[in-house]
Amino acid sequence: TDQSLIRNFCIIAHIDHGKSTVADRILQLSGIIEEREMRDRFLDRMDIEQERGITIKSQAVRVPWTVDGTEYTLGMIDTPGHVDFTYEVSRALAACEGAVLLVDATQGIEAQTLSNLYMAMDHDLTIIPVLNKIDLPSAESDKHAEEIANLIGCDISDVLRVSGKTGEGVSDLLDRIVTDIPAPQGDPTAPARALIFDSVYDSYRGIVTYIRMIDGSLQSRQRIHMMGLGTTHEPIELGVISPEMQPTKALAAGEVGYVITGVKDVSQSKVGDTITEDARRAQEPLPGYQDPQPMVYAGLFPIDNAQFPELREALDKLKLNDAALIYEPETSVALGFGFRCGFLGLLHMEIVSERLSREFGLDLISTAPNVPYEVTGEDGTMHRVTNPSEFPEGKIKSIVEPMVAADIITPKEFIGSVMELCQDHRGIMGTMEYLSPERVEMHYRMPLAEIVFDFFDQLKSRTKGYASLDYHEDGEQSADLVKVDILIQGDRVDAFSAIVHRDKSYSYGVMMTKKLRELIPRQQFEIPIQAAIGSRIIARETIRALRKDVLAKCYGGDITRKRKLLEKQKAGKKRMKMLGHVEVPQEAFIAALNTG
Ligand code: GTP
Repeated sequence: TDQSLIRNFCIIAHIDHGKSTVADRILQLSGIIEEREMRDRFLDRMDIEQERGITIKSQAVRVPWTVDGTEYTLGMIDTPGHVDFTYEVSRALAACEGAVLLVDATQGIEAQTLSNLYMAMDHDLTIIPVLNKIDLPSAESDKHAEEIANLIGCDISDVLRVSGKTGEGVSDLLDRIVTDIPAPQGDPTAPARALIFDSVYDSYRGIVTYIRMIDGSLQSRQRIHMMGLGTTHEPIELGVISPEMQPTKALAAGEVGYVITGVKDVSQSKVGDTITEDARRAQEPLPGYQDPQPMVYAGLFPIDNAQFPELREALDKLKLNDAALIYEPETSVALGFGFRCGFLGLLHMEIVSERLSREFGLDLISTAPNVPYEVTGEDGTMHRVTNPSEFPEGKIKSIVEPMVAADIITPKEFIGSVMELCQDHRGIMGTMEYLSPERVEMHYRMPLAEIVFDFFDQLKSRTKGYASLDYHEDGEQSADLVKVDILIQGDRVDAFSAIVHRDKSYSYGVMMTKKLRELIPRQQFEIPIQAAIGSRIIARETIRALRKDVLAKCYGGDITRKRKLLEKQKAGKKRMKMLGHVEVPQEAFIAALNTG
């Protein structure tokens, strides 16, 4: 395709403002999907995305669009809206020249509207502002159009108005994409350079790599070279997605498409790498991406320890499609072999666990998540602690915890309750700006550990669902943290250790010991359950000894019933973990960790 006829754009928005719905209408209007093949949120291809109604992965698709008799090729990327998937959005932006900034006409600008807009501006993308959901009676289009015009410094009349539901205005949007967004500017005759912006593992075809051609072109059957990894392959297929994979003979400068090399070894592909022709290699690779920094860490363990090798393989494959996931092996006395994993947030963690169980059939248990800390011991050695078990024993000189800059947008009547909530979470208030007479943006500096867990839910409930939140890393500060251990019959159970703020250590200890007392069945002897900081016990519960033999119930009775009972007990035993002399059912671990 001639570069001057290509327009590459992504759709960015706050969560639920309607990106996937508008993308659906674009697919339909362009005619690449027949009416009968249409389904809602067409590009959300994963089951989890369909069920939860959220986009997790960016999807690139090619759609034709004709303006004044000339057919253009639009490369569209639908991106996720949730803060945990910001990294996914930033990768998509690097493959585009323009961005459609979608804002819900009933809600106005929200926290991720701003963060996505700033990211798009950092990439020098042309922004097309669009109000969506204008069909709704509660839409306040004029008011919000003004908000947006003020924000990006355009005329109110430049803000397009569409409905992803009825399709109104969507063809005007496509026209605007063609007129406003610049064509790609790569050098079509230079040695090929293509940016790998995503990849996915297909069990039949191996690794499918999604690329944006910047310079030159690639032909199928012509050997390619991965500049970062230094490996060379022969592509067995090149193509474009429209809306399913369509093989093509070549991909030229400016085009978005995919490459399949037949390689199944997942270490042979890296998102952010540059592909060039092997015979005529480019000098310089493209800038690529910065590796994202995980925000929270947790251990993932197969419930059946025999599944450990499968878990490793599954993580390797998932990583291809989720560059933000990191992991390394860890062992736990209580849980056996597993991996310490780093995630971008709790939703990311939840999605990874769910994908591991659905796509790879793994039964997993995860430990309570924590943020990374830097701990300096008395002797001056510094430890980066991503796991409570790495917390140094003995005296501690200092602990440093990660901080975030949090931006909260709320209607002004909730300012007071938001301030209270932030204070409770050790937040320091910065500035506050009015976006409109009714709505403000508040800036806070807060410990990451205070924000990643239940903060968002509390914010939503205190503001009747109206507030929105975005945050990004903002240095660190020293913090008064302690490690709380849980001991069952005097033995420390590593999976239950947690690093918590000193003020909250007591309540954590009480909560965990109470919970375990309820979850661990009574045994022949008394079992103390204690919470401790170092050697100091801060909470204690006791599971009293069983008084009667269970078999006493069937005394003198029916032998088969007795045997059945014994068998049942034996089956139950398999799912038991021995901690010292104490049998702890697997379920108790899961239940204790789940709500921990
Ligand atoms: P994420 O991908 O998870 O960030 O969400 P999204 O921005 O893709 O939002 P989605 O398209 O899933 O739309 C969110 C909700 O708004 C859905 O219930 C849609 O049916 C609804 N919706 C989207 N566009 C419109 C519209 O123009 N009018 C009306 N009435 N509802 C809409």
